[in-house]
Amino acid sequence: MERFATMLTEYRQNVDYYLENLMAESDMLPDLKKAISYSLLSGGKRIRPILTLLTCELVEGQKEAAQKVGAALEFIHTYSLIHDDLPAMDDDEFRRGQKTNHLVFGEGLAILAGDALLTEAFTLLTGVNLSGEKRCQLIKLISTAAGPAGMVGGQVLDLQAEGKNIDLNQLKKIHQKKTGELFKAAILGGALCGQPQREEWQALEKYATNLGLTFQIVDDILDVTGDSEKLGKEVGQDEKRGKNTYPSLLGLAEAQDRAEEVARKARESLKIFGENAADLSNLVTFVLKRSY
Ligand code: IPE
Ligand code: IPE
Ligand code: MG
Ligand code: MG
Ligand code: MG
Repeated sequence: MERFATMLTEYRQNVDYYLENLMAESDMLPDLKKAISYSLLSGGKRIRPILTLLTCELVEGQKEAAQKVGAALEFIHTYSLIHDDLPAMDDDEFRRGQKTNHLVFGEGLAILAGDALLTEAFTLLTGVNLSGEKRCQLIKLISTAAGPAGMVGGQVLDLQAEGKNIDLNQLKKIHQKKTGELFKAAILGGALCGQPQREEWQALEKYATNLGLTFQIVDDILDVTGDSEKLGKEVGQDEKRGKNTYPSLLGLAEAQDRAEEVARKARESLKIFGENAADLSNLVTFVLKRSY
């Protein structure tokens, strides 16, 4: 596990470095650049790009392509966080250990920083060094995951469910869409940087679905039990806003059991890869046991 922790830190630093360079080279308006850099370069676990890199390695794909795909996903993820924190959505004041984007730059610029991150992600993807067909597949995968059928759709359902009673199936669907779909795009995006076999692709799809759900259940749990300092965001927000979460529907103990159950499924789906998928398997444990 120590080797895994070192790997995680190294990969995270590589992602940070890659994103810093992208921003340094960008010639966008200085105020916009400042607002984007504030949220993009302020830490974050970088789980999605790390997943892209690890999956790419697993299928012996092109590392350079995976770095770009991972960066595009981190752009989209960061945009989703900036918008998620807006007063019209979750109305949060802290993110990644600092004031939320709109509190520093104003709502207008925060919205536009998010818009810019989303569109720049696709500009980045057009430059991925793979065949034209592969690039198209990647763009379709990622736009579908981020859009109305994926993350945006999940965020709509999440907002609509505030203060209402929904059942566990509906909640699972929200979680799979708002969080799971970007995880899936990160993992399958990494796979597309190589030539996965059909059964490998299917196994990775299952892994992604279960890992994404594990991640959001744990996010819900940490909003109740977590430490705000460690998480870099305020806790207790879900209850305050009347959000439906795994703990609010099932209680903490049962929510934890569900997280463990889907984590086990995620690990199981990697079986066909044997020891080669050790890092992806350890990542499940990291997501399950994390405190930040
Ligand atoms: C937070 O994502 C938003 C969710 C989808 C739950 P992360 O927990 O990955 O946030 P960062 O990137 O580490 O800040
Ligand atoms: C957010 O879920 C999912 C996104 C698409 C950003 P949450 O609203 O629970 O994420 P946090 O807790 O604010 O990070
Ligand atoms: Mg939210
Ligand atoms: Mg939120
Ligand atoms: Mg949350």
